[in-house]
Amino acid sequence: MTASGQLQGISLKGRDMIELDEYSTEEIQFLLDSAIELKRKQKNGEVYQPLKGKTLGLIFEKSSTRTRVSFEVGMFQLGGHALFLSKNDIQLGRGEPISDTAQVMSRYLDGIMIRTFGHDNVINLAKHASIPVINGLSDMAHPCQVLADLQTVLEHKGKLKGLKMAFIGDGNNMAHSLLIGGAKMGMHVAVASPEGYMPDEGIVKLSEEIAAQTGGKITITHDPIEAAKDADVIYTDVWASMGFEEEQAEREAAFADFQVNEELVKAAKPDYLFLHCLPAHRGEEVSEGVIDGANSVIFDQAENRLHAQKALMVALMA
Ligand code: CP
Ligand code: NVA
Repeated sequence: MTASGQLQGISLKGRDMIELDEYSTEEIQFLLDSAIELKRKQKNGEVYQPLKGKTLGLIFEKSSTRTRVSFEVGMFQLGGHALFLSKNDIQLGRGEPISDTAQVMSRYLDGIMIRTFGHDNVINLAKHASIPVINGLSDMAHPCQVLADLQTVLEHKGKLKGLKMAFIGDGNNMAHSLLIGGAKMGMHVAVASPEGYMPDEGIVKLSEEIAAQTGGKITITHDPIEAAKDADVIYTDVWASMGFEEEQAEREAAFADFQVNEELVKAAKPDYLFLHCLPAHRGEEVSEGVIDGANSVIFDQAENRLHAQKALMVALMA
């Protein structure tokens, strides 16, 4: 990879990362290959600073451990600087329009990452900013997480195409980005959710269209065992995402049969990988035995947030 983030004639300079549907299979593969290469460089102690003098703003409207730390550390390692901007501490939190915020920030920064509730906020920010905007999680999508997830599966399985990835639980932002990202890479993505908590129909349709192009497959079901059957990857996420905390009790009841536990994973391939974006609630969406068991790669996955996002930042901003 060159300092400008180019390889095999692929240039992503100046692009936004709102959701993976805007990226081709080849572009996603390029980002994954770059992430693996940047991970190798970092493990070897090679200094690689193509973002020297560049600054990324990090707007957070919700809590974060992994996203904040991996973006801040990633920018530092690439020679740049990251600016943590809690929504409550900037004028956006007092009603300054997102369009003005975008234009002002474009005069100072080289890129903006935003974690927000409404997906429209990400789209609006990107529309009015003249610099790349990266979605660090919205209620609809979490593409940076899925880049790290795909990297993790690729590292452990040596391929993505043809693998079955089962997502068991809430049809939320993670389910959406896994549907899109998995379909782009020719995977069979199976989502099992209870009635009332199914993934967005538009996203399902889009992922089916993508899968038809890539040789992937989409299964949407209410049956966790059907989804988990012969799966190479079993993925789950919290039952109550950020912003839905007051629904915790009713969601615990609705998701009671959707726990990923020792019984459910018997349906998967013996060498299945367990993934979870974290934070996790042991004893709710996943049993302790599964998340802390031999098939779990959750900490590789968390680490790969750093490498995948470094690859993304170099590609968009160098
Ligand atoms: N997985 C993830 O995005 O974690 P944080 O909420 O800690 O950033
Ligand atoms: N679905 C979770 C993901 C957290 C990384 C949430 O939105 O809270």
